[in-house]
Amino acid sequence: MFIVETVKEIRKIIKKEKREGKKIGLVPTMGYLHEGHLSLIKKAKEENDFVVVSVFVNPTQFGEGEDYESYPRELERDSNLAKSAGADILFHPFVGEMYPNGYNTYVETYKVTEKLCGASRPGHFRGVTTVVCKLFNIVAPHRAYFGQKDAQQVVVIKQMVRDLNMDIEIIPCPIVREKDGLALSSRNTYLNEEERRAGLILSKSLFKAKEMIENGERDGLKIKDFIVKNIQGEPLANIDYIEVVNSENLESMKKLEQEILIALAVKFGNTRLIDNMRIKIS
Ligand code: PAF
Repeated sequence: MFIVETVKEIRKIIKKEKREGKKIGLVPTMGYLHEGHLSLIKKAKEENDFVVVSVFVNPTQFGEGEDYESYPRELERDSNLAKSAGADILFHPFVGEMYPNGYNTYVETYKVTEKLCGASRPGHFRGVTTVVCKLFNIVAPHRAYFGQKDAQQVVVIKQMVRDLNMDIEIIPCPIVREKDGLALSSRNTYLNEEERRAGLILSKSLFKAKEMIENGERDGLKIKDFIVKNIQGEPLANIDYIEVVNSENLESMKKLEQEILIALAVKFGNTRLIDNMRIKIS
């Protein structure tokens, strides 16, 4: 596996692979890879002949005062991990390669970006769709892999792909959790011991809510209230949002039916964690 830094070079490699009839899988990441990312790379390797992992901390998806500067960056570690999971190339462009002087084009998806993380982080999804669209144009993969932990991101990217007629299959992959339930995230590294312990309230609440639904609860507000109270009981937790929505269009759901998504964002100290659970209603 090797690291490629320029659009020109990666295009040349992809062209050659495609000429040989290879299927290309892309795993877009911002680096500081963990088991969640590795599960995406492994799946991409199972389903494609050639796997590109992009590592790019994308400035346009961070708002003012967010953690763009401090976001963990460890390319050598990432490159070893990506290789061990089956990546063929690590695409690691510099900011100026992706956004050269005079750059002036953005991709924006509406409606599904207006709630949940979109409401708390204005402009975030505009940055995500812009960079993902660019990566899709640069790598031209057959399939692209995204973690379900960023459930809204998956919905937004699927919408963009549908609306812009992109010939790319979007493959969402399940959340990977630590043994004690904490959803893996590169941002977990910011948590101190106390905050990490407190953060377990998120997965505990989601699993309890799932149990309530399995036992017949169909009132979305009751589920939401239960989670809010549960999380408020944790003194270090500062709720950003907790929502029970339709998993396809992210519309709020009072009466639970079809497939729902319980999505939440909660701050512990300066660290904002997100987590979610998709539940099929029988
Ligand atoms: O999920 C992420 O890590 C990022 O939002 C993505 C998709 C790599 C775009 O920068």
